[in-house]
Amino acid sequence: MKAIEIEGLIKEFDGIRAVDGISLEIEYGEIFSLLGPNGAGKTTTISILATLLKPTKGKVKVNGYDVVTQAGKVRHSIGIVFQDPSLDDRLTARENLDIHGRLYHMKKDERRKRIEEVLEMVELQERADSLVKTFSGGMRRRLEIARGLMHKPRILFLDEPTLGLDPQTRRHIWNYIEKLRNEGVTVLLTTHYMEEADKLADRVAIIDKGKIVALGSPSELKDSIGGDVIKIRCSDANKMAAILSSNGFNAMIVDNEIIIKAKKAEKEIPRVFALAKDIEIKSIMYKEPSLEDVFIHYTGKAYREEAGDEMEAIKRRWRMRR
Ligand SMILES: Nc1ncnc2c1ncn2[C@@H]1O[C@H](COP(=O)(O)OP(=O)(O)OP(=O)(O)O)[C@@H](O)[C@H]1O
Ligand SMILES: [Mg+2]
Repeated sequence: MKAIEIEGLIKEFDGIRAVDGISLEIEYGEIFSLLGPNGAGKTTTISILATLLKPTKGKVKVNGYDVVTQAGKVRHSIGIVFQDPSLDDRLTARENLDIHGRLYHMKKDERRKRIEEVLEMVELQERADSLVKTFSGGMRRRLEIARGLMHKPRILFLDEPTLGLDPQTRRHIWNYIEKLRNEGVTVLLTTHYMEEADKLADRVAIIDKGKIVALGSPSELKDSIGGDVIKIRCSDANKMAAILSSNGFNAMIVDNEIIIKAKKAEKEIPRVFALAKDIEIKSIMYKEPSLEDVFIHYTGKAYREEAGDEMEAIKRRWRMRR
């Protein structure tokens, strides 16, 4: 049995396909990441796994239970940290956790013990009795993770666990997620931060417009695009790309920059200069591929958040806090 089995999942909202035929299996104990830009379908997929939305089509099992016909059993198997904040900030940290434990019918002693454990895990013991409204964004996020773990779920869903947090807080949260690995919790996290998926996930599914465009471990994905990535800026990108393409390179223009791949970049760069002739090369650099390059490779477009979209998501988070 797998922790999560998804087969041919489709979700439509009034004719819009938010999830367009996803199939995926996640093993117990894995940290798995759905990585994709705004609107890719990450939250929709997690919401279906968590039984908050019904699939339009397809079969989905979580912890061996069907999300439609055995929704109650699924809910008991999982913890979830939502993309948008969902703590009651008029209550203390401890009270938020206690309410959650009651919802899951945990006994008083069990709740008391578990509250200490989860608070310790996210290093919030000292603030246990402070009102959540006095917490910073990072502290709230940590408390939400603690709450997701309160009833000892086998599987934890984290929807954008570090959205809008500063780099230092983000790294703290990564540490807690790493700890979950040792505790044997299966984690499915969504993110649009390449670095986050790269650092944390055993395997990553890159999704775009509701479809999986690539799936594998971060290093498999990077290897799959074949060697180093060379980026060239020059006086005439179209002409240069055409020359490169007719000389055996697979050249792509993204953001006015030419991207080519090479097994060994050092060997190919002199050839690029030789081919340029009257085209002025303004800059040329090469690097080992990142997940960003993987995204570009499989979708043919730049991985760029609409800056406004990320700001919108962060603002929404703040609004909901009030
Ligand atoms: N309740 C809804 N009604 C109509 N359309 C929806 C609804 N929820 C999501 N969508 C649409 O489905 C698509 C996928 O949205 P989803 O929230 O799953 O994306 P996401 O990958 O989580 O994006 P983000 O990174 O912004 O959180 C988007 O086009 C969105 O507008
Ligand atoms: Mg989302």
